[in-house]
Amino acid sequence: MPGGLLVAMDRDPAAASRAEALSAEFGDGFRFVPGNFADASDPLAALGRGEAPLDGAFLDLGLSSYQLDDSRRGFSFAADGPLDMRFDPGQRFSAADIVNSYPERRLRQVIKDLGEEPWAGPIAAAIVRRRRQSRFTRTRELAEFIGGVIPRKRWPRHIDPATRTFQALRMEVNDELGSLREGLEVITSHLKPGGRLGVVSFHSLEDKAVKDFLNVEAKDCICPPQQPVCTCNHQASVVIHPPHPPLRPGKDEVELNPRSRSARLRGAIKI
Ligand SMILES: C[S@@+](CC[C@H](N)C(=O)[O-])C[C@H]1O[C@@H](n2cnc3c(N)ncnc32)[C@H](O)[C@@H]1O
Repeated sequence: MPGGLLVAMDRDPAAASRAEALSAEFGDGFRFVPGNFADASDPLAALGRGEAPLDGAFLDLGLSSYQLDDSRRGFSFAADGPLDMRFDPGQRFSAADIVNSYPERRLRQVIKDLGEEPWAGPIAAAIVRRRRQSRFTRTRELAEFIGGVIPRKRWPRHIDPATRTFQALRMEVNDELGSLREGLEVITSHLKPGGRLGVVSFHSLEDKAVKDFLNVEAKDCICPPQQPVCTCNHQASVVIHPPHPPLRPGKDEVELNPRSRSARLRGAIKI
C-alpha cells in the first residue's frame, strides 16, 4: 500500500538479520523492531502516527522453524544442543536453569500444565533425583532421560516422548502465555476502528487465552451472570471475526507443511 508501513516485531535478535532482506526490498515501507510484542506501546508511539496507528495486526505465535532447526538454540530434542530455549539470549533464565533448580512440585506443574504431559509427576520426580548427581546441560541428554522415564509401551504414538516436556519448558522459559495475554491487550488497544487482529497459535492453552480474551472484549457487560444489574460498565471493543470455531489448516496445507498441523487462527475487528 503506498504510504503504508509494515512493522515487524520479534523477541529473537536473530530475526533482525532476516528482516534486513525485507528492508532492502520495501525500503521505508518496512521496519523491524526487536522486542516482545507485549512491549509494543513505546515503539508504536514512536512512529508518531497517533494513539491507534494500526490498520491490522497479526500475531504468529510460538517457535519458528529457524529456531527449531538451529541446534545451538537448544529447542530441539532431535539434535543435540545446550539446554537453552530462550527466544532472546539476553533473557535471564534458560531451560537448564528451570530443569536444574525448580522445586519438584513446580517442575511437575509446569510440565503438566504447559506440556499437558500425563507423565509429568514421574518425569519431575526422576529429574530431581538425577540432578542431585549431575546437572542436565544438553537437549539429547534430557530427551533420552525422559524417554527412559515413560514406559516404552506408553510412549505417544506420533511424537517423541520428550515433545510435551520440551514444549512446557520453552513456554515457561519465555513466559509465552504471560506475553500473549499482555500482548493481546496492548496490540488491540492500538488498532484503529475497523482495524483487524489475527492470531495464529499452535497450542491449546494459547488458543484458549486468545479465545477468552476475544470473548471478554466482544461483550458489553462482563458482570457475573447471576448479578441482576450491570456494574462493570464494560463496553465491547471488538467483533469476533471469523466467528468461532477457529480456522484450522486443510489436509493439503498439512501435507505441504506438517508443522502447521496444530495451528488455529482466530481474529477480531476493532469497533
Ligand atoms: C511461528 S514463528 C513466526 C516466524 C515468522 N513468521 C517468520 O517467518 O520468521 C514465531 C516467532 O515469534 C517470536 N515470538 C514469540 N513470542 C513473541 C513475543 N511475545 N514477542 C515477540 N516475538 C515473539 C519467536 O521468536 C519466533 O521467531
